[in-house]
Amino acid sequence: MNFEHDELSVNPSTNRPFDSILKAEISRRSAIAGGALGAATFMAAGAASTRPAAASTAQTSPVVGNFTAIPTSTADTVTVPDGYTAQPMIAWGEPIVPSGPAFKDDASNTAEEQEQQLGMGHDGITFFPLGANRNSSTQGLLALNHEYTIGAQLFTDGSEEWNEEKTKKEQAAHGVSVVEVAMAANGQWSTVESAMARRITANTPMQFAGPAAGHRLLQTAADSAGMTPIGTINNCGNGYTPWGTYLTTEENFNGYFWEETEGAADTISDEQAAMNARYGVGGQGFGYQWATTDDRFRADLQPNEPNRFGWMVEIDPYDASSTPVKQTALGRFKHEGAAFATASNGAAVIYMGDDQRFDYVYKFVGVADWQGEVAAGRSPLADGTLYVAKFDEGAAGTWLPLVHGEGPLTEANGFADQGDVLIKARMAADAVGATPMDRPEWTAVHPTTGEAFVTLTNNSRREEANVANPRVPNEWGHIIKWNEAGGDAAADSFAWDFFLVAGPGDGADDSTITSEDQMGSPDGLWVDDNGRMWIQTDGSQPDGSNNQMLLADPATGEIKRFLVGPVDCEVTGVTSTPDGSTVFVNIQHPGDSGPFDNPTETSTWPDGPGAGRPRPATVAIRRTDGGVVGASFATASETTTQTDEQLARTGTDITAPLAIGGATALAAGAALVRFRNRVLKDSE
Ligand code: FEO
Ligand code: CA
Ligand code: CA
Repeated sequence: MNFEHDELSVNPSTNRPFDSILKAEISRRSAIAGGALGAATFMAAGAASTRPAAASTAQTSPVVGNFTAIPTSTADTVTVPDGYTAQPMIAWGEPIVPSGPAFKDDASNTAEEQEQQLGMGHDGITFFPLGANRNSSTQGLLALNHEYTIGAQLFTDGSEEWNEEKTKKEQAAHGVSVVEVAMAANGQWSTVESAMARRITANTPMQFAGPAAGHRLLQTAADSAGMTPIGTINNCGNGYTPWGTYLTTEENFNGYFWEETEGAADTISDEQAAMNARYGVGGQGFGYQWATTDDRFRADLQPNEPNRFGWMVEIDPYDASSTPVKQTALGRFKHEGAAFATASNGAAVIYMGDDQRFDYVYKFVGVADWQGEVAAGRSPLADGTLYVAKFDEGAAGTWLPLVHGEGPLTEANGFADQGDVLIKARMAADAVGATPMDRPEWTAVHPTTGEAFVTLTNNSRREEANVANPRVPNEWGHIIKWNEAGGDAAADSFAWDFFLVAGPGDGADDSTITSEDQMGSPDGLWVDDNGRMWIQTDGSQPDGSNNQMLLADPATGEIKRFLVGPVDCEVTGVTSTPDGSTVFVNIQHPGDSGPFDNPTETSTWPDGPGAGRPRPATVAIRRTDGGVVGASFATASETTTQTDEQLARTGTDITAPLAIGGATALAAGAALVRFRNRVLKDSE
């Protein structure tokens, strides 16, 4: 979501390099590169685009297909290029299995029914293949996030007359869905009856794992051991691991808690008050009314409860009885982005953003070869080191470890143990001198080069530039890329550059893209296993277009617009079948400006005029000839599977069951099959 939702918190740290650094950086790079060092030169005064506009139909990149790029649009539909189909499916309110309670278009479904239906606010999504070798491209599980709810759409009478049933329905519409889907011979996808289908909501029992599990700051009256949190909320970006688990990120958890109620404040310790200020817990949140009927969301009565959110949650999608695990080693912040990489020693690495103005980019590095961890029945995310990024001039970057006892992370500074460091990760990152960014959202990793990317969506309040966030203010956002030292994802330093600077294009507002490719507020990001980058937007577009998705070549920077969404929506979340013949994309909050008594005022997507209220939904995109979506292949069979060298990046067979957090077993080999069967285009 793109609310002005950080009114409640702000990064008070002074980690803000000065404009002079920026100017020195631009000058240095321009001198070295003669003004042509990629996007880094964009601030040169009056510079026009450094890359001439390509004819939209010309294929100049080996990984972006020869489809004709589509224009921007304000139509209330999903537009895709000629030769493609886009089928809406699994909209909010549809039952997770066909036999479940049917959606009622007047929004009169009960909370109990909502618990058996797709949630609202579709966001991150991953396809987990089924079939004999778990490599099917026609049968699989879709795990997807439900970030937040819109009362005007969720309830027949909106949010005015609040009651406990409304709290429960909103809580049930949050979280994650796992649905089993299958494709018919005609290319149409639908849900099927499945024992694997499940809803995970704001009330689903979970576990803590990692160094902060059981910490005093995670203990509550209902859970004195601090080990069993309830529920997940504001699930935004996502990730997936090669051992077959789904990662869901808890973003704006603060907005659900009320601190200002009767008797407030004196129940909250100075320590907790400082944490609440840094994480934005305060007042009456974003206007959610759960706290009026559910004391768990009263931060004055349950001061530690907010500390139990803001985590990365690991879910085994193949086992509906498994308990989701909040992996505390990955830190507590407004998580967004969970891109996986394998370090040179085989350890798991996860790149992450903290989506707040002036907050940070993080990475987690596991302790050992993840395959060994899986074979031993442990989640490779349960133990490791959390780092935060510092971007310096000269394209240099440093990963600063957040380790108790190192540097300023001592008891005297409020960090008595590693649990304190992780629960107060933002404050630890402030202390070590991380670089304040323009709202880090999704991360992505190229599957073969290991190059990593992060979207910085925008920052309307930036008044001082720093080297990695040079626009003041940053209306349109940018994407940064980096390569780890020695090609090792576990390295403690990296070389970075701008991948693109968004905006109107052709140099306007210092944007580095062409006007044909104009975009604003890049947010969702994925480099697929064919090495193609999918960029999704959430915010105002330069020409007033609806939000969109573009396909890019990470190596050349070539971009083509592939999809434009319906009115008022955000395009967020993208995944594909192993063979690339279906790409699933989520459309969030269409028509969200319509009032409860006229919900179809601005949009009727996906059902169409006269058919119903606007609803978030997934779109299944296919080429009419069955080929790889967004590629130039005539058919999927013309692609090749990964080479042994490419496979080496994700390892060899693993078959042992895995316990994530010690409770859940799963067949971990499946995701290796998934990685192996990702198609890669023949070298051209
Ligand atoms: Fe939920 Fe930062 O977008
Ligand atoms: Ca956003
Ligand atoms: Ca987002």
